[in-house]
Amino acid sequence: MTANSIAAVILAAGKGTRMKSDLPKVLHPLAGRPMIGHVLEAVAALKPARQLVVIGPDMAALAKAVAPVQTAVQERQLGTADAVKAARAGLGDFNGTVLVLYGDTPLLTPATLAALIEAREFRPEPSVVVLGFRPAEPGAYGRLVVGADGRLEAIVEARDATPAERAITLCNSGVMAIDGRHLFLLLDAIGNDNAKREFYLTDVVKLARARGLVCRHIEADAAELMGVNSRAELAEAEAALQARLRRAAMDAGATLLDPATTYFSHDTRLGRDVTVGPSVVFGPGVTVGDRVEVRAFCQLEGAVVEDDAIVGPFARLRPGARIGRGAHVGNFVEIKNAVLEAGAKANHLSYIGDARVGAAANVGAGTITCNYDGFVKAHTDIGKGAFIGSNTALVAPVAVGDNAIVGAGSVITEDVPADALAVARGRQKTSKGGAAKFRARRGAKLKPAKMKAAAAKARPVAKTKKPKASRKPARGR
Ligand code: UD1
Ligand code: MG
Repeated sequence: MTANSIAAVILAAGKGTRMKSDLPKVLHPLAGRPMIGHVLEAVAALKPARQLVVIGPDMAALAKAVAPVQTAVQERQLGTADAVKAARAGLGDFNGTVLVLYGDTPLLTPATLAALIEAREFRPEPSVVVLGFRPAEPGAYGRLVVGADGRLEAIVEARDATPAERAITLCNSGVMAIDGRHLFLLLDAIGNDNAKREFYLTDVVKLARARGLVCRHIEADAAELMGVNSRAELAEAEAALQARLRRAAMDAGATLLDPATTYFSHDTRLGRDVTVGPSVVFGPGVTVGDRVEVRAFCQLEGAVVEDDAIVGPFARLRPGARIGRGAHVGNFVEIKNAVLEAGAKANHLSYIGDARVGAAANVGAGTITCNYDGFVKAHTDIGKGAFIGSNTALVAPVAVGDNAIVGAGSVITEDVPADALAVARGRQKTSKGGAAKFRARRGAKLKPAKMKAAAAKARPVAKTKKPKASRKPARGR
């Protein structure tokens, strides 16, 4: 193990009581994934040799969510130093740099973590480097006490601080890089003689100094270090992340017509010259090719949209949707686990689920793939160049061959061969003059008084018109 290799310990055993939630705090989602996923991603960029998430007992869901990253259980929440001790077995003989982070500080960037690690290489080599910041309101944060020589002397928790110490604006973010060779010796020396009767990790600084070791700090942007402790702070963190994601999308060559109403997931990928209309929501797992237009009011999730396609307005792409090159998905069209091959079109009011729509096929307005019979899902296959008339129900499993035509209003239950024309609906019967006859027949059965009332109700008579003429039945044409 080289001296500059990194192990990350992420503390997440706290109950997060202020969230008022049954879900562990760090599992609350931000930009489409659990808060702790953001921390793990920032850490992963450093290529750590080991990673451990410290969780509380009864947090099996959290252990599952962070897998394959290992977890260590802190049986009782005795403080941040005790939490790091829970990682002792997991760290084993690791003697590089141990990075300690909190699972509820999701806005940290890899660049800031890299700067912290780099500071371990200053000379004389610091055993502890703390990430400091200056929040708008230092409030309950621990304060960094820095000596005249610029070295860090102590971290004082707000509750234990003197008024002079409380006046310090440089605060402890909680993120630290500690020399693994000293870590557990220092942790074992930490007591709980303080206001909260907790074992404070922050005490490593004064204990390290007492042993003649050097401690330092670096300062980072306060915007990266906000902690999430309540639903309001969760919303603030979401807003900050969205602002970052919008900015990154525009920097990478996408036009957002109204950036404030475009919502991204952490993993949304947009190509060049993509245009996104107002009020578009990208759920997790969406990839969009070059020159795609996503028009207003669309929701996409787990979908791939290939180059030059047009989606929306008002379209919904659900997991497994693949919209081929130059294909069109129009208003009120929902696509799930289905492929629209190149140039295919489904422009109005359709549900296409568990299906393939061949290249350049046209799916008429109101077409539905009836993919579910209450028990199983079945596949619909539409060949290339096929034309599906409006208001067709395709009862799966069913296939329509290449270049076939299905007449409007059909209920297709049997396969249609290539180049065939299929119509599956009641044949139209037209009876000349039938409407007039119907009215006469109906009228004769009603008593005159009732008829008058019924007519008045159906069509109030305008004062200027002759009431008699207006009651005359229209002639069938
Ligand atoms: C801590 C720091 C404080 C710093 C602040 C930054 C200490 C003593 N204080 O205070 O200097 O300014 O964070 O936000 O470290 N946790 C456990 N097990 C425990 C206790 C906590 O895993 O027994 C975890 C929590 O889940 C959380 C993190 O450690 O992720 C911080 O704990 P918290 O109680 O919020 O510490 P603060 O009082 O905010
Ligand atoms: Mg906290």
